[in-house]
Amino acid sequence: MKTPGGSDAAKRRAGEHAAELVTDGDTVGLGTGSTAAHAIRALGRAVDDGLDVCGVTTSYATRDLAREVGIPLVGLDAVDRIDVAIDGADQVDDDLAVIKGGGAAHAREKVVDTAAERFVVVADPSKVAAALDRPVAVEVLPDARATVRRAIRELGGTPTLRAAERKDGPVVTDNGNLVLDADFGTIAEPRALATDLATLPGVVEHGLFVGVADEVHVGSEDGVTVRRADE
Ligand code: A5P
Repeated sequence: MKTPGGSDAAKRRAGEHAAELVTDGDTVGLGTGSTAAHAIRALGRAVDDGLDVCGVTTSYATRDLAREVGIPLVGLDAVDRIDVAIDGADQVDDDLAVIKGGGAAHAREKVVDTAAERFVVVADPSKVAAALDRPVAVEVLPDARATVRRAIRELGGTPTLRAAERKDGPVVTDNGNLVLDADFGTIAEPRALATDLATLPGVVEHGLFVGVADEVHVGSEDGVTVRRADE
């Protein structure tokens, strides 16, 4: 579920700031969403100016944008390493635990972001919170939606099947699955919840990224603040 608010100028500052970390020869994980898109456009301009990089995309939307701006692409299954991944967030807490999946791309995002040597989150101030309390996107096999819904309730959450906006019926992910947005209120123990959700049969991937982000670049109207996991 997307976090409402956040100015495009703040998102652009964050995305462009993170794109400056990319250096010649890097394989770059390209995240999904409006903030990551600013990083991708900045990388496209840098490629025009001679930067030699290869991108690994996290969604159909990102693949289309990366092609449009001229970033050479390589398949996730064809790379030995990803040097840096730049991706957005729906919410990030003080420990750099992140909720993702507002664009239903979190399954592939988690593979790419976790594989990266350096995972950089880009966000605007509306995404920053002392504790995570946004609904967690849970991608499920279509036939498992009823069993997973029950299991989420047993974990204390309230699941809602994500509805499509320009199609009748549910959102269908790039992987052909459905998404339950699971509202747990304030998440006291993100790591424990992440483990609980990951072990549910029928769950393809969930949007809690705990211990994955190395740094967060938060853009604002007048600059960028960087927070690192080891600080
Ligand atoms: C995609 O599924 C999400 O994880 C996005 O990265 C997240 O929703 C952030 O998107 P925005 O930058 O558009 O807010």
